[in-house]
Amino acid sequence: MRPLDRALLPHGDAGAVHGWLTDRIVEDGLLPPEPALVAGAVPGRRAQFASARRCARAALEDLGRPAVPILHDGRRRPRWPAGVVGSLTHCAGLAAAVVAPSDACLGVGVDAEPAVPLPDDVVELVLSSAERRRLATWRRSRGPAETIVFSAKESAFKIFSPSTDGWLDPDQVDVAVSADGAVVADLARPLPDGRTRLSGRWAVVGRHVVTVLAAPVAGGRLGVRDFPEEPGI
Ligand SMILES: CC(C)(COP(=O)(O)OP(=O)(O)OC[C@H]1O[C@@H](n2cnc3c(N)ncnc32)[C@H](O)[C@@H]1OP(=O)(O)O)[C@@H](O)C(=O)NCCC(=O)NCCS
Repeated sequence: MRPLDRALLPHGDAGAVHGWLTDRIVEDGLLPPEPALVAGAVPGRRAQFASARRCARAALEDLGRPAVPILHDGRRRPRWPAGVVGSLTHCAGLAAAVVAPSDACLGVGVDAEPAVPLPDDVVELVLSSAERRRLATWRRSRGPAETIVFSAKESAFKIFSPSTDGWLDPDQVDVAVSADGAVVADLARPLPDGRTRLSGRWAVVGRHVVTVLAAPVAGGRLGVRDFPEEPGI
């Protein structure tokens, strides 16, 4: 288990967003009553669930917070301690978590996907024609662009859903990514503070694409103005 590379922390210099990831996907370190949440699940799901929670507890420790169980609300969204926002992700071979104090961020979102191209039919479903056009000059050696865009949409959803209790379809999140690791996601529906833009970072980590987005609180430690306005390819 290791801290997220600084390249993935949305404006990590401000020190507000903390993240950890692991490629050790095993069912260790659950805290009661977490086991009850995955009691009937297949072993792979239990191991991913546990691995993401180990990362979450390491990240909480970075915030000076105790290691607590991370349970779900009624809609499978992680429940964080008071004063903390966060997000979890896991897939075969990688799990990660990010957290931030709620006085610095309205929300943070992390998502990991295998670093392989999305099937054409999924690209059709998830990326708009504008998003596909923007990627026309993308060099494949940088990473699977459509997968990065998809992951950023999932990270955006993980901020939008808990903070608004609402739903976003893929065509309601417009994502632009740039070769230097910047991501901008424009939402068709606003967050509670009225903003419609989220910014963050992407990176290829081993065999996975990881995206991290944040919604910094205006006037907080992560100044909104610190975020890139528009990524350029
Ligand atoms: C919820 C969702 C984003 C999870 O993404 P995923 O790639 O399937 O799975 P990940 O491993 O990355 O994330 C799973 C974790 O997300 C968290 N999660 C689940 N639902 C969530 C929600 N509504 N909001 C925030 N976090 C959520 C949970 O912590 C979960 O892990 P856990 O069950 O072990 O606690 C996805 O399943 C989904 O419903 N997407 C559709 C909506 C959407 O993304 N629209 C726009 C872009 S396409």
